Amino acid sequence: MKHLTTLKELEISEIMHLLDRAEDFKKGETKTYANMVFANLFFEPSTRTQNSFIMAEKKMGIQDINLNPEASSIKKGETLYDTVKTFEAIGVNGVVIRATEEKYYEQLVGKINIPIMNGGDGAGDHPTQSLLDLLTIRQEFGKLEGLKVLILGDIRFSRVAKTNIEIMRRLGMDVFICAPEPLKDPAYDYIDCDDAFGKVDVVMLLRVQHERHEHRMNMTQEEYLANYGLSKARYAEMKDHAIIMHPAPFNRGWEIDTDLVESPKSRIFKQMDNGVYARMAVIERALDRA
Ligand code: NCD
Repeated sequence: MKHLTTLKELEISEIMHLLDRAEDFKKGETKTYANMVFANLFFEPSTRTQNSFIMAEKKMGIQDINLNPEASSIKKGETLYDTVKTFEAIGVNGVVIRATEEKYYEQLVGKINIPIMNGGDGAGDHPTQSLLDLLTIRQEFGKLEGLKVLILGDIRFSRVAKTNIEIMRRLGMDVFICAPEPLKDPAYDYIDCDDAFGKVDVVMLLRVQHERHEHRMNMTQEEYLANYGLSKARYAEMKDHAIIMHPAPFNRGWEIDTDLVESPKSRIFKQMDNGVYARMAVIERALDRA
């Protein structure tokens, strides 16, 4: 049994193994677990992460329970720990959790005897998103090391950015970061967005996380797109082979010009497809005793 809480605790070799297994599953390899049930506990909204975990579970013969927090005892004040312990008690074999609290898993690890797979913890981490991002980039370029990546937008509230910056730097990728002042995380150094579009292999956009901002940004949609998003003018500057990524959901017209979502350089829907296979690899790791 292995939890996946953050990629920071994984060696590079383990991450490469997960990418290789995801690739095997994408190419048609199958692995089936009989008589297993997973519970997907999503306390924050999710379309892609939750449903691609469900898809991965179904492809591996795993039955799924999907908690509706609104109709659960969470509404009566039950804690996350007691909720997860309940699923363990009723015989569930693994849990996928997304919660608003950063590092929510620290209250569970060591006390829960079924694997926990982190589907996102507040503005903390999003390990399966990074795995599918790395898989997409590796498919495109055949390597990771040495590639130049621009990550721009709402760095402060983005668990996707945080997980990717750490693992990409560890993998020897050159990561450039750009963000508007109120959305900077002081942990990083920033570059001027305008200098970067023509130089990088990957432009990774982030959703403006309006729901996590106390006050909406003091910027119009047009200003944001022109300065901190991917406009048509910036698309024209990108290298021929460069690609666009976005974890989605996207705010069309804010971080990306609506016409670029399905442009030739966009790999946004390929990322979603890869998400199923990356999660299959994570499930295999969680269940195997190796
Ligand atoms: C991201 C998330 O929820 O962290 N989406 C996703 O999982 N694909 C990004 C976001 O919501 O902005």
